[in-house]
Amino acid sequence: MKLSSLSIVTTIMLLISLQSKMAIAANVTYDRRSLIIDGQRKLLISASIHYPRSVPSMWPGLVQLAKEGGADVIESYVFWNGHELSPDNYYFEERYDLVKFVKIVQQAGMYMILRIGPFVAAEWNYGGIPVWLHYVPGTVFRTDNAPFKHYMQKFTTYIVSLMKQENLFASQGGPIILSQIENEYGYYEQAYGDGGKAYAMWAARMALSQNIGVPWIMCQQDDAPDPVINTCNSFYCDQFTPNSPNKPKIWTENWPGWFKTFGSRSPHRPAEDVAFAVARFFQKGGSVQNYYMYHGGTNFGRTAGGPFITTSYDYDAPIDEYGLARPPKWGHLKELHGAIKLCEHALLNSNPTLLSLGPLQEVDVYTDSSGACAAFIANVDDKSDAVVEFRNMTYHLPAWSVSILPDCRNVVFNTGNVGTQTSIVEMVAEDLRSSAVPPNEDLKVLQWEVYVEKAGLWAEADFNNTGFVDHINTTKDTTDYLWHTTSLYVDEKEAFLRNGSKLILSVESKGHALHAFVNQKFQGSASGNGSVFSFKLETPISLKAGMNEIALLSMTVGLQTAGPHYEWLGAGVTSVEVQGFSSGTVNLSASTWMYKIGVQGEHLSIYKADGLNRVNWLSTINPPKKQPLTWYKVVVDPPSGNEPVGLDMIQMGKGLAWLNGEEIGRYWPRKSSNFEKCVDKCDYRGKFYPDKCDTGCGEPTQRWYHIPRSWFKPIGNVLVIFEEIGGDPTQIRFSRRKTSRICTLVSEDHPSVGVKSWGVASSKDNNAEVTARLSCPDNSHISTITFASFGNPFGSCGSYSKGHCHYPNSSSVVEKICLSKDQCTVQLSEENFPKGLCPGTVRRLAVEAVCG
Ligand SMILES: *[C@@H]1O[C@H](CO)[C@@H](O)[C@H](O)[C@H]1NC(C)=O
Ligand SMILES: *[C@@H]1O[C@H](CO)[C@@H](O)[C@H](O)[C@H]1NC(C)=O
Ligand SMILES: *[C@@H]1O[C@H](CO)[C@@H](O)[C@H](O)[C@H]1NC(C)=O
Ligand SMILES: *[C@@H]1O[C@H](CO)[C@@H](O)[C@H](O)[C@H]1NC(C)=O
Ligand SMILES: *[C@@H]1O[C@H](CO)[C@@H](O)[C@H](O)[C@H]1NC(C)=O
Ligand SMILES: *[C@@H]1O[C@H](CO)[C@@H](O)[C@H](O)[C@H]1NC(C)=O
Ligand SMILES: *[C@@H]1O[C@H](CO)[C@@H](O)[C@H](O)[C@H]1NC(C)=O
Ligand SMILES: *[C@@H]1O[C@H](CO)[C@@H](O)[C@H](O)[C@H]1NC(C)=O
Repeated sequence: MKLSSLSIVTTIMLLISLQSKMAIAANVTYDRRSLIIDGQRKLLISASIHYPRSVPSMWPGLVQLAKEGGADVIESYVFWNGHELSPDNYYFEERYDLVKFVKIVQQAGMYMILRIGPFVAAEWNYGGIPVWLHYVPGTVFRTDNAPFKHYMQKFTTYIVSLMKQENLFASQGGPIILSQIENEYGYYEQAYGDGGKAYAMWAARMALSQNIGVPWIMCQQDDAPDPVINTCNSFYCDQFTPNSPNKPKIWTENWPGWFKTFGSRSPHRPAEDVAFAVARFFQKGGSVQNYYMYHGGTNFGRTAGGPFITTSYDYDAPIDEYGLARPPKWGHLKELHGAIKLCEHALLNSNPTLLSLGPLQEVDVYTDSSGACAAFIANVDDKSDAVVEFRNMTYHLPAWSVSILPDCRNVVFNTGNVGTQTSIVEMVAEDLRSSAVPPNEDLKVLQWEVYVEKAGLWAEADFNNTGFVDHINTTKDTTDYLWHTTSLYVDEKEAFLRNGSKLILSVESKGHALHAFVNQKFQGSASGNGSVFSFKLETPISLKAGMNEIALLSMTVGLQTAGPHYEWLGAGVTSVEVQGFSSGTVNLSASTWMYKIGVQGEHLSIYKADGLNRVNWLSTINPPKKQPLTWYKVVVDPPSGNEPVGLDMIQMGKGLAWLNGEEIGRYWPRKSSNFEKCVDKCDYRGKFYPDKCDTGCGEPTQRWYHIPRSWFKPIGNVLVIFEEIGGDPTQIRFSRRKTSRICTLVSEDHPSVGVKSWGVASSKDNNAEVTARLSCPDNSHISTITFASFGNPFGSCGSYSKGHCHYPNSSSVVEKICLSKDQCTVQLSEENFPKGLCPGTVRRLAVEAVCG
């Protein structure tokens, strides 16, 4: 192709402008109040998005949605064990393309906080440290130990060099303004004795010696030496003070939700409480706040930590696992960020005056030299609303809330009043179909291919051993699975063979889960749970006269992620007995066990394109159900539409899944206990803790498993499932994550940002209007108004009801403004609604709509 001279000139100019833009180095320093970038104080909202927990095709959209939500910064850990697969064998492709991710952040005009660690915890397998390092002789993780320090420094240097080479530090014109060494070590420093302190100080010095030109942070590290900034991780950090008066107050982890373990309930942190915590932090002098997580994403493959961390790392974050803004959290926090930014100059350029406005009510007033004034009024009462007086005005504050007044007069936002859109999101199921290899005309009749593995020794034993070995030491985490096989001779004179009584197999294990087979038949399973990893399996078994084969499939479900000396925690079988012989109990613990690492299909990579034909699959349109140790393969079309996709595994047992060779992850629709506590409606008031607002009691912790859209081809997608214990593959569905209804509920006395005034009971110039906003997801518009009531409607999205006060024309007013629009704004004005309706009642407008 020949470029015209004009386009050459344009290209050159473009290159020059890009180059010069990228070459502008920023000077990042700090003082007691804030980070200072090129002489300017910064108040920063940061959002954690971990690059390997989504796919590159999602990155630009996630970063953009964080920006739209009011974030200035993207934060990520660096995942050592995803990058250094074996010593000096580095990987930076696909989900691990760190440079690409940082450049996407840069292109979005945002900053980046790079938390190198390289220990990260993060509910990530082994806390991010490669398993191989545990087997480098003499290594003890995270303490004053030569091999550990050697490999840690080597990897840190590697990452720093990579970032420098790409000019990604702010000092080089890049987006990275802060970098972290180690992670929450302060919790455990004592546990490591003298080595702990020495190691922490070494880590800080080692980091500083990297000369990255931007400050280093250490989170939860009270003794971080100057100039490293110690930062706070918690649900609330307003009471945090850095360890030196010249360091700014930085909150590296504000947890807007929590993670899940297989068998646990689903935690939720209410948007009102997250907003309250953030507002309190900035009220009390904070200057950098990061949501951990803003997008949690997915623990693809076997990257989940454990034991038992789910494949979903949704975290109840402002952006959900699938990449959609989570209402109302995302929108409520966006409005909060807008309100805080209106106060930025006053906040960063003055010292606050604290005034008490009541026993549990207070205001911090910031007045800068130009006279600009911003105030944060807090009601920390966790039960009662309050009416307070401030500067001759009266303010109503819901319990456990903060009102933000960027001009010290008008409330633009209150953390307890959610005015933003809410919605109902559904997983819309769709049968698997295939147009590629139709056995007949009906696309729904799928051609399955099935391969059933042998229990126990699927090939010659890897080794034999008298008694047991440590599971993790044996697999070195190359697989979840470790087979233990032994034989047991039964004399034909044994009474149980005739009297019909059952023998009991009793297995004890340090974790994490186990399935037992006798003579190739599945007998039973057991596993630890969220807090207790060890368990005991007791199951009746059938033995025959003569030789019997006992095969135990022991497995890990994600390795420990943190804790002192966590890498030494073992797993696996510790005792096996069979009870009920005429002689009593037979102890098999000291028998000779034959070991096989992994399962056959995984070993042969039969889930990958080049391994698919390594076993003889059996073709059938009726795949077996409740069949343990079974591989299922089916060629399918992508689901319709363009919404994100979850694989519905509710009728399956436990195992692993792949699409087109890509690792979806572990599935296990393990149910939480019915006897635990769940809430119908969460009371946001009062201190949050992870189990405060749980849902899903008695339900599978995780039913749907995210499959990124970019993994699908137009036709001929190969879905491979390895089922350990038995399920019904014909019930597997694709489900599209779809916003089915959008809702808004606004009140005359409730603020939302951009609107000037409300709730100022005695204010005379309270003439601004409250507005209700509705907005449909991409490419859809409001097709039906399913509910509208101006008056005193109540209830929540999906179940609104009219109150005693109701304007009968509400629907027609809203329809006229909103129908067929992709978004609309309805003002609570006299023009739209009668002024005199229900005097003495605080009127509200509730709208529920369908996007089509
Ligand atoms: C960076 O800013 C600090 C103060 O904000 C100043 O002391 C220092 O000289 C600046 N460094 C450079 C390289 O401009
Ligand atoms: C409040 O009202 C008092 C009495 O009217 C007046 O003296 C004072 O200046 C007012 N304060 C403010 C902040 O407006
Ligand atoms: C393990 O023991 C079995 C049975 O005695 C034997 O056939 C096999 O060769 C042994 N394998 C190894 C690796 O020692
Ligand atoms: C976990 O297992 C322990 C011991 O078996 C039991 O006491 C505890 O209730 C279990 N917890 C959950 C959440 O199932
Ligand atoms: C694992 O092997 C190491 C030696 O490499 C040993 O020191 C350690 O005790 C073993 N762990 C367990 C839990 O048995
Ligand atoms: C059957 O025999 C076993 C001994 O092997 C004995 O423990 C058990 O009680 C007997 N059961 C019945 C029902 O007689
Ligand atoms: C079973 O044998 C093992 C190994 O010999 C021993 O440590 C264990 O105590 C025995 N169990 C019982 C219940 O006797
Ligand atoms: C409702 O709308 C109808 C027709 O648009 C109008 O005639 C009627 O006056 C309205 N009712 C009220 C209470 O405003």
